[in-house]
Amino acid sequence: MAIISSKQPPEPNPPKQAAALSKQGRKARRGTEPGLLESAATLEETNKQEETLRPQRLAEYIGQKALKEVLDIAIQAAKFRNETLDHLLLYGPPGLGKTTMALVLATEMGVNCKITTAPALERPRDILGLLISLQPGDLLFIDEIHRLPRVTEEILYPAMEDYRLDIPTGKGQAARTCSIPLQRFTLVGATTRVGALTSPLRDRFGIIQRLRFYELDELTQIVLRTAAILTTDITEAGAAEIARRARGTPRIANRLLRRVRDYVAVKAGGVTITESIAAEALELFSVDPCGLDWTDRRLLGVMIENFGGRPVGLETLAAATGEDAQTIEEVYEPYLLQIGYLQRTPRGRIPTPAAWKHLGYGDPPDSQLSLLR
Ligand SMILES: Nc1ncnc2c1ncn2[C@@H]1O[C@H](COP(=O)(O)OP(=O)(O)OP(=O)(O)O)[C@@H](O)[C@H]1O
Ligand SMILES: [Mg+2]
Repeated sequence: MAIISSKQPPEPNPPKQAAALSKQGRKARRGTEPGLLESAATLEETNKQEETLRPQRLAEYIGQKALKEVLDIAIQAAKFRNETLDHLLLYGPPGLGKTTMALVLATEMGVNCKITTAPALERPRDILGLLISLQPGDLLFIDEIHRLPRVTEEILYPAMEDYRLDIPTGKGQAARTCSIPLQRFTLVGATTRVGALTSPLRDRFGIIQRLRFYELDELTQIVLRTAAILTTDITEAGAAEIARRARGTPRIANRLLRRVRDYVAVKAGGVTITESIAAEALELFSVDPCGLDWTDRRLLGVMIENFGGRPVGLETLAAATGEDAQTIEEVYEPYLLQIGYLQRTPRGRIPTPAAWKHLGYGDPPDSQLSLLR
């Protein structure tokens, strides 16, 4: 499978740069690289070595059982009928394997994959050039698809539905629409914010699938697999210790493994990574045993200390902690909800008794408990 990164449009404002900037969106807002436990990719993780860690085939792709089953059926059916795969929308928090899955699909279908990102498709001609250049069966991957400009989105509608471009020509009374046929292709869209997609766009995807956080045993397997690729000795318990702190996210698991590997090389004279060495190293990096980092603890701490555990609105929480509301919603909250440290109610966010206990505040007062029922 050839991976062709979109080179549309030529100049000015090269799309790769625009894409790179948008991929770093969360970092840019804060002006720093993401922390050790943030699920956004660091610069180190957008490089070539990272690519070697990506599973290539469906069988190598660990976890996401339901998603793999759906896609396996879709692939087999499409191959059987000699058709292209239906358009697919993948959504879920960062670092769970959306891009990886798009590449796996292209490999499984034996087609080329063109990769681009919504902010790189600012002008109509960017998407027009890309669509026209597609070969039969190609897979077009659009990352951050919720950020597509309106005009680009409207060009995609007939392209997705009828493999056709409708280009308006002329003005006033002479206005016409010129239709250009396209090759059949599969659009794979990825987003961390499925709710931000317009419904006409969402409705044009034949398959819509959510990626879930990974279970401990799945993440342990991912750590063991990555360690093997990096030729790092690790015990299963060592891998599990790293997995436990990786917030259900493969990208974070791989990142923590790298840090522990550095620690072992420098501090422990290059021995095998065991459970105690992994714990010791991650302690040093302030990654807590539940995978909470400083910001998670601060968010929960502010909710408990400043608001006494009463419901807090997102904007209020953002203002009180100095964090960006979107970052809280997309990056921090999903994991805190997943591990049951946070609950969303119609009146706002509430820290659960488990969060009170984990942060050392003991049991919440009865009045707060009643809010959770
Ligand atoms: N199922 C998996 N098995 C093994 N490794 C995985 C799996 N999913 C993801 N990874 C690893 O995690 C890294 C991050 O995955 P990927 O880039 O696909 O995430 P993403 O969902 O596209 O994130 P973003 O929303 O930030 O674009 C990959 O480099 C890959 O090595
Ligand atoms: Mg991605």
